[in-house]
This record gives sequence, C-alpha cells and structure tokens, in this order.
Amino acid sequence: MTDLFSKFDPLIEQREALLKTGLTDPFNLVMEKVESPTVAVCNGKRTILLGTYNYMGMTFDPDVIAAGKEALDEFGSGTTGSRVLNGTYGGHKAVEQALKDFYAMDHAMVFSTGYQANLGVISTIAGKDDYIILDIDSHASIYDGCAMGNAQIVPFRHNDIEALEKRLKRVPEGAGKLVVLEGVYSMLGDIAPLKEMVAVSKANGAMVLVDEAHSMGFIGEHGRGVAEAQGTIDDVDFIIGTFSKSVGTVGGFCVSNHPKFEILRLVCRPYVFTASLPPSVVATAATSIRKLMDSADKRAHLWENSKRLHQGLRQLGFQLGTDEPQSAIIAVIMPDLEKGATMWEALLNEGLYVNLARPPATPAGMTLLRCSLCALHSEDQVGEILGMFAAAGRATGCIS
Ligand SMILES: Cc1ncc(COP(=O)(O)O)c(C=O)c1O
Repeated sequence: MTDLFSKFDPLIEQREALLKTGLTDPFNLVMEKVESPTVAVCNGKRTILLGTYNYMGMTFDPDVIAAGKEALDEFGSGTTGSRVLNGTYGGHKAVEQALKDFYAMDHAMVFSTGYQANLGVISTIAGKDDYIILDIDSHASIYDGCAMGNAQIVPFRHNDIEALEKRLKRVPEGAGKLVVLEGVYSMLGDIAPLKEMVAVSKANGAMVLVDEAHSMGFIGEHGRGVAEAQGTIDDVDFIIGTFSKSVGTVGGFCVSNHPKFEILRLVCRPYVFTASLPPSVVATAATSIRKLMDSADKRAHLWENSKRLHQGLRQLGFQLGTDEPQSAIIAVIMPDLEKGATMWEALLNEGLYVNLARPPATPAGMTLLRCSLCALHSEDQVGEILGMFAAAGRATGCIS
C-alpha cells in the first residue's frame, strides 16, 4: 500500500523541526476568551488582537448580537436544508435585500462562506472552452473555483495592467472571457489598479469579477470596496464578498446587475448542494451590513489607525509590504520562516497577536507578520502595539 499521506512528509518534517526549537505553534493558538473585537485572552494573558479580519469591529455590536439572539429564539439553531429546498427563511431574503441596498445593485445571492461564493460563481459561469484571466496572487478560493469549472486558466503578473491586456488579446476570438481580480490582496495589503484593469477587460470583451473580501465596509465612500473608491463599480459584473471580515460573522455572497443572475440559484452547485446559513447568522449579518452603510466615522478612524501603524513600523526599521498604507492590512516582511516564527512568539509574549503567514499562502515565498487593524483599536492601543513591536523586534534581532 502506498501511504497517501507520504506527500505531506516534507511539511511534517519542517513543522516538527520548528517546534523542536521550543517555539509555540503559530498555527494552533487557542483564544481562551474574547473580550472585545480588539482584546482576547491567549495563554492566560490579555492580548491585543492585530490579526483578525474584524475590520469594522462588528462582532460585539449590541444590535448585531440582539438580532442574532432573537433569530435563534424565533427560528431555532439551523435550517437543516439547502437554499433551494427548506433552507430559505425570511432572514436569508432580508440579508440579500440588505446587500442589494448596501451595493445599490439588482441581485444578491448568499452562500454559506466566501470560499463557496468564489467556488460557486466562478465554476458556474466559466466552464470548459471559456477563459479565466486572473491575477497570479489570487486567493485559493478563486483558484479552486477555476479548477472546478474546467476553464482555461491564464494567470498574469500581480497588478500588471499591460500583462493583463496581453493575455486578453491572446484569447481566441469568440471565446468567453472572465477577468478575476481582488480589491485588496490580503497578504501584502496592497490594492489593485481596478479602474485601469476593468477598462482594459471591457475593451477586450471580458466580463469582470472582483473579490472585495478585504475592502467591504472600509474602502470607498459607502464601504463598497476598491471598485467604488476608484469609480469603476458600475463596470464590474460580479462582486464577491464575505461576512467573515467586516460584517463580523460567517457567510459569503455575490452581488450583480446581470439581468440573468437569478438563474445561478438553480445551477450553482456550491449554492444548491449545501445547507444554508443558520437564522442567527443571517440576522446578525443583515443588521451589521445595514449599520456598515452608516459608518463613515469608523472608516475614517480605521484609516488613521492604518496610517499611524504603517508610519510607526517603518520608523522602527521594519520592512513593509507596501510603501504607503493602502488598506487595513499592514504586512511586515520577515527574512525567513524561523525568524518569522520567533518574532511572532516574541510578540505573543508581549501581549500582541498577529498572523504569521507563509507559502503557499504568501507571494514569492515570503514569510509575513500580517497586521490587520480594526476600527475599534484606540489610538492608545496603536501606541501600545508599536511599543510591543519595538521590544520584540530588538529582542529577536529583527531591528537594531
Ligand atoms: C480574498 C478572499 N476571498 C475569499 C475568502 C473566503 O472567505 P470566507 O472566510 O468567507 O470563506 C477569503 C478569506 O480569507 C479571502 O481572503
């Protein structure tokens, strides 16, 4: 018998070697208690959270929690069914209406996760004989959606408008074309030049899908994302998003103005062949989305936090993923996995949680300490965070 697990041996060895040095496993941390969107107890210690996707701090919003509790009492703990059978409740329609209002679009379809939204929409609309032209740094769920649909996959260099145009021009005449982009790329926290890329795509007869997972709620005047901020949202055919970041719960969605969009409810397998979200989840999501429409002050404060952290880390001597803060994600580049894990643990011991990110999730084989800010981090907390980076950075030799 060939052990099907033997393909994982190199990873098992690498992990064991790292843990043998006595380091805490960075991928096995338990949050013992979560006190607020910015503070939790980890290893018995009060820890500032700087590695969640809770950008707008909605997880403890009293209205959101009340809506969830009410739905739990009225509708029970789960639907036990698919959206197309017994799994559509009033709450599912209400959250889809909230999304249509939030994006000012005609159609909204809610999936059980953002991963499934990408998997479902991409694999259903682009199949055999179609072409998907995508940024090489696209999220795993985008790649998995491409693989599931059997379309021809044509990656282009990250954020390179000319490379996108060249690939588009090489697609055979008459073939279906879908360009897949992200608003914010979550590893380095950089944004896409969507205005130019959408224009190039349209000029070459392609439909465009933009994943705004990391920008919804925060970027753009109404929090609709990078496409809104760059004035190109009306030219985007499909926006994919998630409830697991700014919305503060779990779930995924696609919004669109395409006149035939609703047919997806019958043909999209990751929508049809899975149970729908629990009533409490859709109720919290709908309440959160409606509150995000009216959160300009929080968006402004989050930008202030992002600028302050970016500038402070730079002044301390850390190498960052972007020259300027472009989103709520600030990535600190580490020289290698060992140093990254050591620094990650030193920060945890200081009382700060960040994400350690490594290949294959990261581009160009990089190890990153990804910091993601929340609109509820206070100015004092950002100051504390910088103090912890200074102490941990000096103790580990990452900065002098
Ligand atoms: C760009 C992007 N798209 C989609 C997803 C999937 O979202 P979800 O957590 O809702 O499955 C993520 C998750 O991290 C993401 O970063």
